[in-house]
This record gives sequence, structure tokens and C-alpha cells, in this order.
Amino acid sequence: MVQLQVTNSPFDENQVQLLNRLLPTLTESQQIWLGGYLSAMSLRGAGAAPEAVEQPALVQAAQSAVSVAAPPLSREVTVLFGSQTGNCQRLAASLSRKLEEQGFQVNVSAMNAFKPNTLKKVENLLILVSTHGEGEPPDNARAFHEFLYSKRAPQLESLRYSVLGLGDTSYEFFCQTGKDFDQRLEELGGRRLSPRTDCDLDYDEPVADWFGKVLEALNGPQNAPQLADAAVQAAEKADEPQSPFSRNQPFQAEVLENLNLNGRGSDRETRHLELSLAGSGLTFEPGDSLGVYPENHPQLVADIIAAMGWNADETVPLNKKGDTGTLHEALLRHYEITVLTKPLLEQAVKLSAAPGLQALLAPEAQQELKAYIQGRDLLDLIHDFGPWNASAVSFVTVLRKLPARLYSISSSYNANPEEVHFTVRAVRYETHGRERYGVCSVHCAERVQPGDTLPVYIQSNPNFKLPANPDVPLIMVGPGTGVAPFRSFLEERGEQGAGGKTWLFYGDRHFVTDFLYQTDWQRMLNEGVLSKLDVAFSRDTEEKVYVQHRILEHSKELYAWLQEGAHVYVCGDEKHMAHDVHAALVTVIQEEGGLSPEAAAAYLENLQQEQRYQRDVY
Ligand SMILES: Cc1cc2nc3c(=O)[nH]c(=O)nc-3n(C[C@H](O)[C@H](O)[C@H](O)COP(=O)(O)OP(=O)(O)OC[C@H]3O[C@@H](n4cnc5c(N)ncnc54)[C@H](O)[C@@H]3O)c2cc1C
Ligand SMILES: NC(=O)c1ccc[n+]([C@@H]2O[C@H](COP(=O)([O-])OP(=O)(O)OC[C@H]3O[C@@H](n4cnc5c(N)ncnc54)[C@H](OP(=O)(O)O)[C@@H]3O)[C@@H](O)[C@H]2O)c1
Ligand SMILES: Cc1cc2nc3c(=O)[nH]c(=O)nc-3n(C[C@H](O)[C@H](O)[C@H](O)COP(=O)(O)O)c2cc1C
Repeated sequence: MVQLQVTNSPFDENQVQLLNRLLPTLTESQQIWLGGYLSAMSLRGAGAAPEAVEQPALVQAAQSAVSVAAPPLSREVTVLFGSQTGNCQRLAASLSRKLEEQGFQVNVSAMNAFKPNTLKKVENLLILVSTHGEGEPPDNARAFHEFLYSKRAPQLESLRYSVLGLGDTSYEFFCQTGKDFDQRLEELGGRRLSPRTDCDLDYDEPVADWFGKVLEALNGPQNAPQLADAAVQAAEKADEPQSPFSRNQPFQAEVLENLNLNGRGSDRETRHLELSLAGSGLTFEPGDSLGVYPENHPQLVADIIAAMGWNADETVPLNKKGDTGTLHEALLRHYEITVLTKPLLEQAVKLSAAPGLQALLAPEAQQELKAYIQGRDLLDLIHDFGPWNASAVSFVTVLRKLPARLYSISSSYNANPEEVHFTVRAVRYETHGRERYGVCSVHCAERVQPGDTLPVYIQSNPNFKLPANPDVPLIMVGPGTGVAPFRSFLEERGEQGAGGKTWLFYGDRHFVTDFLYQTDWQRMLNEGVLSKLDVAFSRDTEEKVYVQHRILEHSKELYAWLQEGAHVYVCGDEKHMAHDVHAALVTVIQEEGGLSPEAAAAYLENLQQEQRYQRDVY
């Protein structure tokens, strides 16, 4: 029997408790009698109980509610996801399977594949959406997000919904897109099945909690937490059906090669790493990413321990599961020490006697907090807000888990079986009077040699994939490390003996020192796997030349490729390059297609809807 809830019935908390106590105890004939009794009452008008019948306390309590007929619980659930790097997509697929096993009829869809005019008919809606850019929706959620905020959005009084947001608390607009959907659906008249949950990078537990609550609201409490846990675990495994290794259980991959791709004299260092996947069962497709768990810089770890006067060998928790290890091990491999977030400062303030930290967290100090957090790390916090009244144990338990970094895979599995290649640019800069080192990129550049191992997993990305038809032309735009996935795409096309034309736009600072994978492109041009290569070296000329300038120079030909059905891929910098390339593509379509700016933008939006324009930007 379905358990009644406040959220799935017209009853209040007291009535729900009374009914849930009584209903399971009724025999079949008692149920039939009660049903008849309540119908008779509602026919006579609310409150007019048949006199001859003695009323139990429960029925008296229920009496006030019988005039509102409880709507039959719908067993149909629509699950919509918006995802850039695949997390929400994987979770949506796994949670949907669990709902189906529970007897629900589930319609799961990417937001860009969902017809918004059918939203009015949806009764139960689950939204799983991440946030990208600076608080922006993922590419495949943009149009639906826009639709809901437009005048065309329908009233949704019969909708019950719940939103799961994925994000990262180190961003100013944490889970903004989830918050937008949640608020907008309420404004349109929807009622929440269960409250929104906003998840940080370590999302498994909060996702399971959220899904447990959703299941309870839809289905009653039986086994909801266990079912939810199982669904999240299954999502984790979805990328590696043939392998025991995943994000929660990375594979220790042996490093086969670690080369600097930049020439002598370059002001950049870009490493090409090759890892062995032998024995892991891990495979991947072009467009997928490699998750790499890094180690923090040992000097920073030592400086933090010294600044706090702690003992590096002290035993501390390594995670929430109860594993323990030395403080040195914890700060080196398990906890994030290079990023400050508001939630971290809110916890740290309890351990500090400095009034300045409290002031920074005051509601009116938001701008000061933002400015302080930017570019500072745990060592800055320790120096700036001592004296600290904190044991090593109390301190590490407020830190975030050290997250893996994603890298676009730069090899094809078919061309290099049991290997994975990736391309890492070392991040080094100075702020607030100190040298800073990107955790993972500098670990790969400075402390990883052939023969060492790196803990890795595969993060499949269904939103950055080659067309199924090898004859379809490809246009690839990838300046800097953005070129990495196109090495994988072209190696794969080479393996397939594909007939489709391919065109690569590449750019970096200097031709002589920064032409990543130059000999590979040359060979591919000779072999015909790459049909065209256009390059833009930004610092070889007085005026900067970028990939979008090359795109505009080849406007006519590029438009012809689009009209022939080419797929367009953009990879690399999200903040500037991706926006500028997008604008250049709109200009090409506008000028060559003789369209208005709006029609040209719509043309490109349509390509995105059809998955002919895909971006992997960071
Ligand atoms: C899907 C995806 C694919 C990716 N593919 C690649 C790839 O192929 N190759 C690649 O190299 N990277 C790639 N990245 C980026 C990669 O995941 C890491 O973010 C990158 O290597 C930096 O990580 P890190 O640990 O070295 O630096 P972190 O310790 O994470 O530090 C990076 C942070 O430092 C700060 N920072 C950086 N430079 C400066 C500066 N000059 N001044 C002030 N602050 C600064 C910024 O806040 C930045 O976010 C990808 C990211 C995603 C999401
Ligand atoms: N989110 C993260 O954690 C993270 C981590 C690492 C890197 N990134 C970003 O990823 C991007 C890739 O980094 P990268 O080091 O491989 O290369 P990059 O910095 O993007 O540089 C590659 C080339 O692109 C040029 N460029 C600069 N602005 C451009 C624009 N608006 N349009 C087109 N081209 C432009 C550069 O020229 P000039 O330099 O001469 O201007 C350079 O020639 C970086 O921008 C970085 O911000 C993000
Ligand atoms: C380039 C980039 C920008 C991001 N911007 C935000 C942001 O503004 N706010 C936020 O909460 N999370 C942000 N995130 C974190 C993602 O939302 C988070 O990694 C999420 O798990 C991704 O889920 P997806 O794979 O379904 O897209 C950003 C991540 C990347 C790579």
C-alpha cells in the first residue's frame, strides 16, 4: 500500500500520521466499507456524516478533508537534465532506471531534446542541472532555461517538481542554474515534491539524500535511502561497465611517457602524458575526459604544518568513511588546501580568535569576502587570521575533499589500445606576494616520471562526440590545450579509414615554440586524415591573431561546409575564446547566409540543438 505523505495527499502532518497508522491494519472488507462510507459522506456534502455510524477518531480527523478528493498519484515521472561534462546526465540515467524498477513510467531527456510545449502536461518533474561559466546553464540547458523565463512559459499549477543542482562552492554563483529552475517553476505555479539540493563537487551523498526524499514523496518511505544509494553507485559505474574502477575507486595507471611539448625558450610548459590502462578494463571514446587525482605541493603542505605548529605524523581522519592516516598524508593527498570557499571560512571562523574573519563573513561584506578568497589559499588564511584555537583533527575535518581534475583525452583507444594520452599545461603564477602552483598540472609537470603511477578514471562526455557517420565533415576549433581532443578525434578517424573532410583551427602564442603536436598534424595532413589546418599564432605579429580571425577569413568555405552538414567542435578557454568563436560563427552565418543577426544566432542554436555544434570548454 502506498504510504501517504503531506506531499502526495491533501492531508496535513497529523492526518497523514493517523491515516498511515490505521490504513495498513484494515482488512479488505473494512477498506471497502470505509471507501463506501467516505463516498456517501462526500455525496451528502462535507461534514454531514451518516448518524447511525459510530466514528472512530481517525475518521473524525479525516472528515475535514473529505471534500477535497485526493488526486490519484501519478506514476509518470519526467526527468530532465542539463549537463556539460556528463555528471548530471549519468545521474539522470541511473536515477531514471531506479524509478522504472519501482514501477514508474519515466521519460528521461536532455533539456534540449525536450519539447517545452509539452511541459503543461507533466505532473511529476525532476530536474538535474549543473552550472557552468559564471553561473550560467550548461549548453544543453540554455534554450529550456530561456523558455521558462520567457513570456511563452505556461502556468504549471498541476506540476510537482524537485531540483537537483550540481556545482562547486568555489564559484561565486554556486549552483545558480539549479536555483533559477527551482525558483522559476515555483513562480509558474509548480509545487515542490521535495526541496532543492545544491551539491558541491563531492556530490554522491547529497544526491543520494535528495533522491531518497524524492522517492519517498513519490512512493512512500519503503527502502528509499537504500534505493537512492544504489542508484548513485550505479551512476558512478555507468562510465566503466567493464571495469571495477571509477571516480570513487580510481585506477593506479603507470606513466609511460611524460614530455614537454613546448620548445626551448617558450614561456609555457605543456606536458604530453601517456598512461597504461593495461589490466584496468577501462576504455573510452574520443571526446571523453580523464579524471586525475593529484597531490598537493609538498612544500605547501610542510608550510601549513609548520605555521600551525602541528606534528606531521599525528593521526587524523582521511575521509568521512572513518579511514585515518598521518596529517602529512591527509594534506598531501586527501584534502583541498589551495582553494578558499565561503563554507570553509564559515567553519574556520569557529576555530579562530581573530575578529577580522568574523567581519569578512558579515552579510554586508560580500564584496570584501569575494576579493579576499580570490587567489588565496589555506596558508594565507592561517597567516591572516591567527591565533588559531584548532587541533589538526578539527582543522582537517572542515576541509573539502581534494577533487580530481579533468583532462580532455588526446588519444584514440582504437589507435592506442590499453593506453590513454592527455595534455596538461602547467599553471604557475604569482599572487599576494607568493608563487602559486596549479595542483594537478604542476604535479604532472614536476613530480611524475615514467614508471610512477597516477590515480585516474574515465569521465565519459556524451556531449562531445564524433558523428556516428564517418563521412560527415568536421570543423574543429582548439587553441592551446583545447586542441587535445582533436588529436583523439583525428586518430579515431584515421583508424576508421573515414571519408569525411576535417578542418582544424589551432592557435597559440608562438609558431616556433608553442605549436603543440605539430608533427602529428603534419603527418595527418599527408595521410589525408586532416584535410585543412589553419593556425593563428598570437604573439608572432604586432597585432594579435586568434582562431576566430582565421574563421572569418575563411567565411565562405566554412559556411559551405556547414551547409554540407559539417559538425562544429570548440574546445579550450571558456571565458573569452569560446564566446569570441561563437560570435565569429554567427557573423559567418549572417554574412554568407544573408541572414539577420537574430536568424544567424537561431541557425547556430539549431545546430546546438541537433548536436552539430558541441563545446568542451573550461
Ligand atoms: C572538461 C575539462 C577538460 C579539460 N581539459 C584540459 C586539458 O586538456 N588540458 C589542460 O591543461 N587543462 C584542462 N582542463 C583544466 C584542468 O582540469 C585543470 O583545471 C587545470 O589543469 C588546472 O588545474 P591545477 O590543479 O593545475 O590548478 P588549480 O590548483 O586548480 O589552480 C587553477 C586555478 O588557479 C587560478 N589561476 C590560474 N592562473 C591564474 C593566474 N594567472 N592568476 C590568478 N589565478 C590563477 C584559477 O582560479 C584557476 O581556476 C580541463 C577542464 C575541464 C573541466
Ligand atoms: N577553469 C580552470 O581551472 C582552467 C585551468 C586551466 C586553464 N583554463 C583556461 O583554459 C584555457 C586554455 O589554456 P591554454 O593555456 O591551453 O591556452 P590559452 O591561454 O587559451 O592560449 C591559447 C591561445 O589562445 C589565444 N587567445 C587568448 N584569448 C583569446 C580569445 N579571446 N580568443 C581566441 N584565442 C585567444 C592566446 O593568445 P594570447 O595569450 O597571446 O592572448 C593563445 O595564443 C586558458 O584560457 C585558461 O584560462 C582554465
Ligand atoms: C568551466 C567551468 C565553470 C563552472 N562554473 C560553475 C559556476 O559558476 N557555479 C557552480 O556552482 N559550479 C560551476 N562549475 C562546476 C560544475 O557545475 C560541476 O563540476 C558539475 O559537477 C558539472 O556537472 P556536469 O558534468 O553535469 O556538467 C563549473 C565547472 C567548470 C568546468
